[in-house]
Amino acid sequence: MSRQNLRTGTESKEDHGAHGNWLSKHTDSGEAPSLKRVEEITGKKLTFYQCDLLDINRVDEIFSKHHIDYVIHFAAIKAVGESMQFPLKYYKNNVIGTINLVEVMKEHNVYQMVFSSSCCVYGDPEHLPITEDHPTGNVTNVYGRTKYLIEEMLKDLTHAEPRWNIISLRYFNPVGAHPSGRIGEDPTKNFSNLMPYIAQVALGNKPHVEVFGGDYNTPDGTGVRDYIHIMDLASGHVAALSRLSQEHFRYKPLNLGLGRGLSVLELLAHWERVTGTRVAHRMAARRYGDVPTLVCDGSRGQRELSWTPRYDIDDMCE
Ligand SMILES: NC(=O)c1ccc[n+]([C@@H]2O[C@H](COP(=O)([O-])OP(=O)(O)OC[C@H]3O[C@@H](n4cnc5c(N)ncnc54)[C@H](O)[C@@H]3O)[C@@H](O)[C@H]2O)c1
Repeated sequence: MSRQNLRTGTESKEDHGAHGNWLSKHTDSGEAPSLKRVEEITGKKLTFYQCDLLDINRVDEIFSKHHIDYVIHFAAIKAVGESMQFPLKYYKNNVIGTINLVEVMKEHNVYQMVFSSSCCVYGDPEHLPITEDHPTGNVTNVYGRTKYLIEEMLKDLTHAEPRWNIISLRYFNPVGAHPSGRIGEDPTKNFSNLMPYIAQVALGNKPHVEVFGGDYNTPDGTGVRDYIHIMDLASGHVAALSRLSQEHFRYKPLNLGLGRGLSVLELLAHWERVTGTRVAHRMAARRYGDVPTLVCDGSRGQRELSWTPRYDIDDMCE
């Protein structure tokens, strides 16, 4: 029997051979063209529900309609700057949304989950590269604090109730798109991530990339991040589901990154070389809440998940 997975809040970039249900408040009209494209790419029919996790009755209704084995919990709002302006919106959506989800899961005897966490939970790191044992909680922005609070809540829950089996994947910096080019970051959204911004400048839709902070204590003064291709991130989730089916961890946080740091200027140079397009940039002041360097030690995640990233920075720019 194929496993029934429910994914909250996103369009997936992978095909893991199982029928999926989707739970999202994706668009106002309920239309999600990327889901159609996922069906075309994978040749599989998907069931999609437009649903806000804050609407617990509706979430419960959806769980009543299906036998669900695993949940991948992607749904969250994630704009760091906005989270500093509207903290309650972020705490309510991300934390209460997750409480609703796990309450409904429990009601329906679903205890296995992969949670989309973030390297934000480490704050400004005390040591590099960042291992999973690095302290968490010294977080520099509200969005990151919602991820930290959810992690703490899941830790307490799995401690109190042994049936739970949860892997928190702490993503470093996901970039890139499906190799078909048909699904990727939505260019119509107000993006807060660097790579879609670079693409918009390259296409002539924006005048230049603003580089926030040129005076950090890094080799060229700009922020250093650990970029991971979205296809590797997707296969990391497939590996995590597979591990949940093999072992009862209760709660396990794992880094998902390549362990290789790249500065903003290095990323721009890679992009220009790979695509042959010039991308204008302008230095700007540091952004409140940003930290200079986030690079992981990804060895535990790779070992525990028997997962090997396959894409490098050139693939990410293509
Ligand atoms: N993209 C990154 O750089 C990054 C890094 C670390 C962690 N993450 C985490 O990965 C997950 C997916 O990120 P993404 O980049 O695909 O973001 P995204 O904004 O593209 O997708 C998130 C989706 O969640 C949905 N959503 C938000 N609140 C919801 C709610 N209450 N009920 C139902 N759906 C809701 C949104 O409508 C959206 O479709 C998020 O949890 C994010 O915090 C992302």
